[in-house]
Amino acid sequence: GSVGKDGYRHFMDKELHEHPVVIGQTLQRLIDPATRRVMLPDLPFDLAGLPRAAITACGSAFYAGLIGRYWLEGMAGLPVDIDVASELRYRDPPLTPGGLGLLISQSGETADTLAALRGMRARGQHILSVLNVEQSTMARESDVVLGTVAGPEISVASTKAFTAQLSVLACLTIAIGRARGTLTAAQEQDLVAELLDLPSRANEVFDQAPAIREMAAVVAEARDVLYLGRGSSFPVAMEGALKLKEVSYIHAEAYAAGEMKHGPISLIDSTVPIVATLPSGRLFEKTLSNLQEARARGGRLLVFTDTEGEARLRGLAEIVVALPTVSEFTAPVIQTIPVQMLAYEVALLKGTDVDQPRNLAKSVTVE
Ligand code: G6P
Repeated sequence: GSVGKDGYRHFMDKELHEHPVVIGQTLQRLIDPATRRVMLPDLPFDLAGLPRAAITACGSAFYAGLIGRYWLEGMAGLPVDIDVASELRYRDPPLTPGGLGLLISQSGETADTLAALRGMRARGQHILSVLNVEQSTMARESDVVLGTVAGPEISVASTKAFTAQLSVLACLTIAIGRARGTLTAAQEQDLVAELLDLPSRANEVFDQAPAIREMAAVVAEARDVLYLGRGSSFPVAMEGALKLKEVSYIHAEAYAAGEMKHGPISLIDSTVPIVATLPSGRLFEKTLSNLQEARARGGRLLVFTDTEGEARLRGLAEIVVALPTVSEFTAPVIQTIPVQMLAYEVALLKGTDVDQPRNLAKSVTVE
């Protein structure tokens, strides 16, 4: 049947509110409720023997892949190559035969990702695709499909598919880590518990809507916006910047927080708001010191952190949004939701065609 807006003004807003449900549904497919262990479908190859992985995708799905790289390298010890599909398809990378070719796509039809899939197959990779549309061209050409259970995504700008992709990549990381012996059974139990906690933590993010609207009022007045993050928060910053460009037509650029001093710091003044994502954890202090440098140069700081990091940012930042504190592992899932909400709220203020931004297509099936 046709999909309605269920009382929401736009599909984008409706789909943003589906994050908690799609995370839960996607995890349910991959986690055995009795044993609380990750259960992948039968694979025609051995996870323990994979020499490395090559990830590719386009748009938001690519940023999900970047977060997947942090997890696969850091937790499963698997070396990862990653590139956008439009580049990978012409790069002729010397992939190790028997490696994992990991494709991520909402539609399963994106021309560049499909071409990259075929190139990876030709280079002897096992093809595993993370897809939302399970009857798609990429699905037919893959050895294994891990489905994201996000339901139809109507808004051209992707939202809920992203956290569903992260949910799958998190489970895949646990399965590979277990197979390779980098994660113990006890660690797996802890990580699974953190994942299963996500739907209710994600629900709490919507309590922050008033503060996000305050941020939106600042961003809507700007011509350029700088997004900053470190570690797995860097791809979150990229997703935030992409979403803002797509739906509000405001220029935004994402930078690795530590790289700011090598260029964009020269842009900082009171007219270029800085949207930073810094959950508590290993990299918090590092990003905090980058923000202090930006503040000292007159930058206006709009910050997404968590309840644990909040106190350190009050007084420094103009607006602080304190999301629920979760583990470092799952933080990018939670932190993505508010950056997408911010883009939506700015688009509302700008009066753009939120669900169908100019010049964009939901699924790009030509090169
Ligand atoms: C288009 C959409 C993006 C999406 C990208 C990749 O550009 O506007 O929102 O992230 O395609 O699409 P896919 O279906 O492969 O995830």
